[in-house]
Amino acid sequence: MPDDHPPQLPRTDVASLALAGLRQARKTLPAQLFYDEAGCRLFYRIAELPEYYLTRTELALLPEVAREVAARFDRPAALVEYGASDEAKAGFLLDRTHDTSPVFAAYVPIDVAAPALARLRARLAHARPALDVWPIAADFLGPVTLPRATGGLARLGFFPGSTIGNLDPNEARAFLRGVRTTLGAGARLLVGVDLRKDAAILLPAYDDAAGVTAEFNRNLLVRLNREAGATFDPTEFAHRAVWNAQEGRIEMHLQSRRAQTVRVAGETIRFAAGETIHTENSYKHTLPGFAALAAAAGWTTEQVWTDPAGLFSLHLLAEGTEAPPDSRPAC
Ligand code: AVI
Repeated sequence: MPDDHPPQLPRTDVASLALAGLRQARKTLPAQLFYDEAGCRLFYRIAELPEYYLTRTELALLPEVAREVAARFDRPAALVEYGASDEAKAGFLLDRTHDTSPVFAAYVPIDVAAPALARLRARLAHARPALDVWPIAADFLGPVTLPRATGGLARLGFFPGSTIGNLDPNEARAFLRGVRTTLGAGARLLVGVDLRKDAAILLPAYDDAAGVTAEFNRNLLVRLNREAGATFDPTEFAHRAVWNAQEGRIEMHLQSRRAQTVRVAGETIRFAAGETIHTENSYKHTLPGFAALAAAAGWTTEQVWTDPAGLFSLHLLAEGTEAPPDSRPAC
């Protein structure tokens, strides 16, 4: 998802996506609009903030997790990464070997950003010449067909970074079902999942002292001014991060500092003082809650890793909840 040079959506799409959200009684903007070039740069800065524990906690877990996951494969496998704008996290898995042969013979990075995938392929051709790389430029939330060349390989899906937290539970379930269909019988899936915790830790992660997340949030308005003929004054909207305990999610909003009207693609949008635009949800799961979500999508939890402070988790899921044939009732 985040990427340094994402493709630009056609301007008409940006305007219609924005208007669809801004015409609602409770105004929203879709989180996919965050990741223009500036938004991607800001996200990389967020990932390095002291308050944003997610990235560094997952990175600290990955060497050991990759070792243990790779040990479960007894034949060459394909690694299929969802939302792969670079190979930094996949590298921990791609490095693993049995004796001297790599565990992963093929890598299928899936991302909407075709230029980033082309650069990733060029880097890997140089750094890992023996690895078959089959990039797929697609929205990973839609249907994905794997290259035929991966047919004889075992499969590991990889969805790091807590991006699953940006999907609501229904979307997450549908995504996990789709991955199961794509990867097929006997597949495994490794997912990075941020955990529910004290709001005193969560809120600063989404409202940092340096104001980088606020800039990331307001960049949506800058983008609409540039790409959707909008007239927002971003300084007239305050960044708000809210912990919604009932839904188990951090919400990001942009709150109008005063009553104002803004033009977007020729349409007038009115804001009351204090009214917000809801821009993002970031769901925080419990360990049993995520296992239940995965089970509802047909995955069995094989192993879970967490850091010592219990901030973040990685879940290894195995395809198949079907009862084995001999335990099915006779009919
Ligand atoms: C990409 N995603 C997992 C980030 C998150 O934590 O939900 C996006 C983000 N939004 C604000 N800060 C980071």
